[in-house]
Amino acid sequence: MYPIRRNRRLRTSEAIRSLVRETIITPNDFLVPIFIVEGKGVKEEIASMPGYYRYSLDLLPVEIKELWSLGLKSVLLFVKVPDNLKDNTGKEALNANGLMQRAIQTVKNTVPEMLVMTDVALDPYSVFGHDGIVSEAKVINDDTNAVLAEMALSHAKAGADFVAPSDMMDGRIFEIRSLLEDEGFHDTGIMSYSAKYASAFYGPFRDALDSAPVDKKDIPKDKKTYQMDPANRREALKETLMDIDEGADIVMVKPGLCYLDIVRDIREAVDVPVAVYQVSGEYAMLKAAAAKGWLEHDAVMMEQVTAIKRAGAHIIASYFAKDVVKLIQ
Ligand code: PBG
Repeated sequence: MYPIRRNRRLRTSEAIRSLVRETIITPNDFLVPIFIVEGKGVKEEIASMPGYYRYSLDLLPVEIKELWSLGLKSVLLFVKVPDNLKDNTGKEALNANGLMQRAIQTVKNTVPEMLVMTDVALDPYSVFGHDGIVSEAKVINDDTNAVLAEMALSHAKAGADFVAPSDMMDGRIFEIRSLLEDEGFHDTGIMSYSAKYASAFYGPFRDALDSAPVDKKDIPKDKKTYQMDPANRREALKETLMDIDEGADIVMVKPGLCYLDIVRDIREAVDVPVAVYQVSGEYAMLKAAAAKGWLEHDAVMMEQVTAIKRAGAHIIASYFAKDVVKLIQ
């Protein structure tokens, strides 16, 4: 007891603090989300995500080379689909020459060693802004799964290393794994968004991709029939264990900061790597507060990513990845 034990001895200098520090952030922790758009010479800032951009394919190599030189070796690709290619079937998502498929090839042609993960969900391709096929005011589970599996296969054929289904349909991991196996893509991995909540923190992302659910009669106005209720904890474990049984190589919790209890639960219960997605709203919140001079950007950013890793994340998908790595270099 005190005074024999004084906890402050281990905090007296930076040297001792760093010697006993439990959680260290490195470039290896990060997966970098990238937004891609059609066009030439496009690098447009997303209004609700200051400092984050959409790139056209001709400018993508510049960004990919920079990430690689910073030690960031994994990307997660998202595409903004032109309105005239959106429908209620996800047809364009299967186009072998579609934007996503060309983006995968562009990254691989630029830095072949870069790990490429792709978002698999119909929302950017949906006229209704839903992750699946809509019929009679419902998002139809099994019809959606069939398209998602074809979409994942198409990404694998284009060269994706991992596909990342973000839709929360039941059974989609099994459908995707089965088709990939049938077609010989044994080494293509699946990172499942297994505990994805119906969060209000996705707003800026939906701006980035113009993918928000539309406000129309007979169209569900939110994603609450497939994404999880933020009030639920035990359900996250059920979802995650099912995805692992169905063939997920990596599982994910999303969003990050508000869900770190879930991250810890899952980290302790599973034997696969756990990813956490620090989402667009979490990024926007800090950028806005920092711009007002209300929060110290770099310190809060480091505290946040450290907390995510401390909670149990092996992988952090974050829009702050570049900022963090530049800071700690
Ligand atoms: C699409 C998808 C979303 C995000 C990742 N994939 C949006 C949503 O589910 O509405 C959100 C990412 C973010 O907010 O940064 N299925």
